Formats: sequence, structure tokens, C-alpha cells
Amino acid sequence: MKAWRISSFGMDKLELVTLPDPRPQHGAVVIKVHAVSLNYRDLMVVEGRYNPKMHLPRIPCSDGAGEVVAVGEGVRRVQVGDRVAAIFMQNWIDGEADAAKIRGALGGDIDGVLAEFVVLREEGVTRFPEHLSFAEAATLPCAGVTAWNALVNACRVTSGDTVVIQGTGGVSIFALQFAKMMGARVLGTSSSDAKLERAKKLGLDAGVNYREHPEWDKWVMEQTGGRGADLVVEVGGAGTLTRSLRALRIGGTVAQIGVLSRAERPALEGVEIPLLLHKQVRLCGIYVGSRAHFEKMNQAVAQQKLKPVVDEVFSFTGAPNALRRMESGAHFGKLVTSVTH
Ligand SMILES: NC(=O)c1ccc[n+]([C@@H]2O[C@H](COP(=O)([O-])OP(=O)(O)OC[C@H]3O[C@@H](n4cnc5c(N)ncnc54)[C@H](OP(=O)(O)O)[C@@H]3O)[C@@H](O)[C@H]2O)c1
Repeated sequence: MKAWRISSFGMDKLELVTLPDPRPQHGAVVIKVHAVSLNYRDLMVVEGRYNPKMHLPRIPCSDGAGEVVAVGEGVRRVQVGDRVAAIFMQNWIDGEADAAKIRGALGGDIDGVLAEFVVLREEGVTRFPEHLSFAEAATLPCAGVTAWNALVNACRVTSGDTVVIQGTGGVSIFALQFAKMMGARVLGTSSSDAKLERAKKLGLDAGVNYREHPEWDKWVMEQTGGRGADLVVEVGGAGTLTRSLRALRIGGTVAQIGVLSRAERPALEGVEIPLLLHKQVRLCGIYVGSRAHFEKMNQAVAQQKLKPVVDEVFSFTGAPNALRRMESGAHFGKLVTSVTH
């Protein structure tokens, strides 16, 4: 089989290699991968910014969808022909996270899915809603589940709440779609007016360009009549957290997800601690989620016939171009590599 792999860090170090076709061991399934979606993390992994001590060689990417083509002895949960997606952390099936459960992340701790075939334990996959294509399903495991957790478990968003999303990348667009599904009002920031217009077609209620209006926290306060937002889905990190705190209502929640800004200085310098106290803020760290979270999200996606936003599909041999597009930040929603076409 063919797979993309890094033996040392760097975009130009991605190699298309030929590896033995996998065979299913006891309790494991072989998946013919049809589509792989990219997350910002995959770019960091390839560049060596995610974990410079990562064991190499490594097949990158966590998010894949495909078809079960062989099962090992003892497999009960899935069968040949099932359309499945991999779960991000192979050991986090349900319940609260612990140190053992958050080990085993695909494309990080262990080889990922940017390959023609992968072998996973049967517990490490889940069926996905029937109305989704492989490309759409491949967007769910990381970005989808993370956004779902921010809205459902960090904050329990309900109708009438105000949710702020930052930028128009994979996590943020899922957060927009889920928040609208739950009846919330969604305010968004972006570096691009054109992207804000595109987001409005998905239900964004109002948007602001954070390059032209860096004080977007004040804009959020204006938009909410001085009350502030119920939830900020925080993907910026060190460069945006203080503004997120300022944009919250008293008792509001920050779902801390990302590290997009100030990558070179991700530490929380200059955060106004008194804001946390005076506003009685809940700061909730999110690390993707479990298979149980994924399956709960799938129920909602199926019921609402929600369609993930796929910006562009690249060929398997064009996978490095997909990563370059992600690096450019030009995308809206998700970038996908089609493995079978
Ligand atoms: N904790 C977790 O479990 C988890 C899970 C998934 C992702 N993440 C993290 O969350 C972040 C987003 O991931 P992703 O895969 O959704 O990324 P992505 O698709 O690459 O999204 C990037 C977009 O974010 C926006 N952005 C960049 N810098 C920004 C800033 N300073 N302020 C506001 N928006 C900014 C830009 O949108 P515009 O072009 O519209 O400006 C950019 O296009 C990454 O840091 C990733 O590592 C964490």
C-alpha cells in the first residue's frame, strides 16, 4: 500500500512510501481509507511544532473515513462493508479522560490515516451518518467532535445564547453549524470579509474583521447590548484569550481549544487575571473527545442532516498541497484528501 510518511520534520520531508498491505490481527479491522481531512495539528506535526520529540517515522493525520475490508478474529462491533471513521484518541472510548485514555492519538502517538489502508482495533472506529460522503465523514473525528464538546459539554449551549467563533477554519465552522442547530446567536471574527459573507450563508448572525477591528471584544459587547457572550470558542490561544475574556458575559465560558496565534510564545503572558475573577468565568480546556462524544454528535448530525463544509478536495498524491493550503489560511471549513480518486 501507499502511505505518506515523515522520517524527519518539514513539509518537504513528506514522502510517499510503499508499505506492506496490512492484515487484521485479533480484535482489529482493516479499513480501506477513502478520505482524510486535515487539521491544523497535522501541519504542526509535519513541521515538528506539535511534538519535536515525536517518534519517527510517522504517518500523519488523525481524521479518516473508509470502508471495513477485513476483520480479525473476535471482531463483533463492525463487519466487512461498514462505512466507518477512526476516532481521534484510540483509547478514549467513553467516560472522563485520564492519562491512559489520551494516549494513542492517531497521527501523533501512533501512525495516522494518510494511507491507503489502516488497521485499528474495532473499538477505535465508529459508523458515521448515512447521508455523509466519505469526504464529509472524514471531517468529523477531530474538528467536529472538538466543536461539539465545546458547545455541549463545556457550556451546554441553548436557544437564545450568544456564541462567538474565531476565524473560519475547521473547528470554528463546525461550532457555527452546531450552535445554529441549537438555536444560538453566533457572532464571528475573520481576517476576510468574503469569508464572513460565506459564514453568513451558514447562519452567522454578524461578523467582524479582526484585522481591521482588532478590538473585536468591544464589538461583541456592542452586539450584545453590553452583556457579553455566553461562550467563546477559543482557537486563537495566547494572542486572543484576553479579548475572549473581555467579550464574555459574567459567568460566561471560554472553551479553550487552539493555539493559532503567537505560536512562538504560546504561554499565557499578559492575561488579565482579575477578569477571570470579576466575571466568574469558566475556562474549560477541550481535547477533542471520546468515541461516546463522537457517537452522540453523529446522532445530532444524522437527525439534522447536517453537512460538514468541505472547502476543497485534493488527490492523494496532492496531499502536500492540501497541507500548504492549510498553512496559507486561505481555506474555509475543512480541507480533504481523497485517497481513492
Ligand atoms: N484542543 C483540541 O482538541 C483541538 C482540536 C482541534 C483543533 N485544535 C486547535 O484549534 C485551532 C484551530 O484548528 P483548525 O484545525 O480548525 O484550524 P484551521 O482550519 O487551520 O483554521 C485556521 C483559521 O483560524 C483563523 N485564525 C488564525 N489565526 C487567528 C487569530 N489570531 N484570531 C482569530 N482567528 C484566527 C483563520 O480564519 P480566517 O481566515 O477566517 O481569519 C484561519 O483560517 C488550532 O490551533 C488547532 O491546533 C485543538
